[in-house]
Amino acid sequence: MEFTTSRLLLDALKESDADALFSYRADPAVARFQGWRPASINDARDFIETQASIVPNTPDSWLQRAIRLREGNVLVGDLGLHFPADADDSIEFGISLAPLHQGKGYASEALRAVLAWSFGELGRRRVHASVDPRNHASITLLRAIGMRQEAHYVKAFQLHGEWVDDVIFVMLADEWHLKRD
Ligand SMILES: CC(C)(COP(=O)(O)OP(=O)(O)OC[C@H]1O[C@@H](n2cnc3c(N)ncnc32)[C@H](O)[C@@H]1OP(=O)(O)O)[C@@H](O)C(=O)NCCC(=O)NCCS
Repeated sequence: MEFTTSRLLLDALKESDADALFSYRADPAVARFQGWRPASINDARDFIETQASIVPNTPDSWLQRAIRLREGNVLVGDLGLHFPADADDSIEFGISLAPLHQGKGYASEALRAVLAWSFGELGRRRVHASVDPRNHASITLLRAIGMRQEAHYVKAFQLHGEWVDDVIFVMLADEWHLKRD
């Protein structure tokens, strides 16, 4: 599964991405609101290796894709997609960009392609993202691509030893089709 947008290529992570992946994923500003933070380059390598065997759209799997600039083939970030066990349930996504490449619209460009694929080719009904309410950049991004806030769970789970809130942003297939028509 590969997507091309006007500036980006979304494809599989490669062994040669490990250094770059480690460097931005271990950055405290990128890792602050995320469950996974590699402690070493080996963690990044293991993560890439585990991903190699995952077939897109496998029920109950997380699939990670690289986000690269088409120009120069530079790794600028990655995005994860969770395919639920039941195909009627929601696809969940998460996205991270290296700080150097934030604020340029790459995240919205990548996610618009993911929404189009999920509701178009895959024919899914619902896509959601789970975000910490303090993660303003992420919330602005989710609103910018047309998602709406559906729930706010208070002190819902533990992240890095702290009970944190969980805000759910959603888009339904009907909403996506309406925006396009
Ligand atoms: C969330 C993240 C991917 C957003 O990336 P980005 O580069 O800002 O995304 P885009 O450039 O596509 O911008 C999307 C919108 O967010 C806005 N935005 C960017 N940074 C912002 C900030 N710090 N505060 C508020 N809004 C911000 C942009 O202006 C844009 O809005 P617009 O389309 O109305 O102009 C990035 O901040 C990141 O990697 N954060 C760390 C990892 C993380 O927490 N991921 C979320 C897990 S779900």
